Amino acid sequence: MGQFLSRFGIRLGTRINEHEINRIPIHHKCRNCGQGCDPTKSTNTCVNAKFTRTGTKDQVSIIRPIIPNDKVRWSTSFDYHPIEFTSEKIRTSTKEYVDRDPRQDPNVQIPWNLDDRLCDRRSYHGTYKIIGRVPQNPCGRTGITGRGHLGHFGPNHAADPIVTRWKRDENGQEIIHPSTRKPILQFVAIRRKDTNELAIPGGMVDKKEKVTDTLQREFQEETLNFPDLDERSKHNLLATIKDIFENGGIRIYCGYVDDPRNTDNSWMETTAYNFHDGKNEHLAKINVHGGSDALCAFWHDLSGEVSLFASHSEFLQRVADIHRAHW
Ligand code: BGC
Repeated sequence: MGQFLSRFGIRLGTRINEHEINRIPIHHKCRNCGQGCDPTKSTNTCVNAKFTRTGTKDQVSIIRPIIPNDKVRWSTSFDYHPIEFTSEKIRTSTKEYVDRDPRQDPNVQIPWNLDDRLCDRRSYHGTYKIIGRVPQNPCGRTGITGRGHLGHFGPNHAADPIVTRWKRDENGQEIIHPSTRKPILQFVAIRRKDTNELAIPGGMVDKKEKVTDTLQREFQEETLNFPDLDERSKHNLLATIKDIFENGGIRIYCGYVDDPRNTDNSWMETTAYNFHDGKNEHLAKINVHGGSDALCAFWHDLSGEVSLFASHSEFLQRVADIHRAHW
């Protein structure tokens, strides 16, 4: 990630501001082959990394064909035999927000690459191709066609709020890591109900919802579950969150993510924002409590040694870089 930032003219070890963050292109690097995804190129230059090609815990019966790193791009010829898979839950869903399959019903017309106000079908990686009436994953082969567990063909948008504070001792002093000599950050973590993995409390953007609202909603649902809190305190807490989330975040990432649910026709894209309470004034004081899709919520030290869901480690590493914290 360090090299990634410096490639775009941002000196490492300096605190960068939101303006600079927003200048950073939304590429990400494949953990397997180290190549970058370049959404500015219409050819398939992006590469699916580790999780996209392995599967999920709730997808154990689906074994994806192995795709060597150098065969992931669509432009590389490959004797490719993907497995068609759309979960029963998705196939039989009658929800307005779940797509019908245009390959099975010629009457289904989906406004690809557009925001039809019910659903934003635009990709952060530009215009995606439609092949055989369905979108083609801009980051290459995944081993599975169909939607897998995802509701939409094409991009499925999520949002990830990364709430951080400094780890402090009982006297309020920042704790320095003995090996890196850098202060240690803590972030609000959850344990996901679906995969049991440690994660950022993010979630899917609902129909007609703005990403900024998703960030707030997901944080509230998954980490601010206080059934015993009186109405007044609840109101004050939510007002603080609203104020901070609407005014103080730094965009960390937006784009395609290496997610175990990705298929050749459906994939995850996310927007991650960091909300940092460096002075222990507001967010840092919240004793989070899990709810909704989270088994539990807690403050957790940021470090490269923690294993996290999907691409969440990469986002946290970037947060650590920005605040010059231990990783
Ligand atoms: C998760 C997000 C994650 C996204 C992409 C969503 O289901 O809730 O935290 O970033 O998937 O992996």
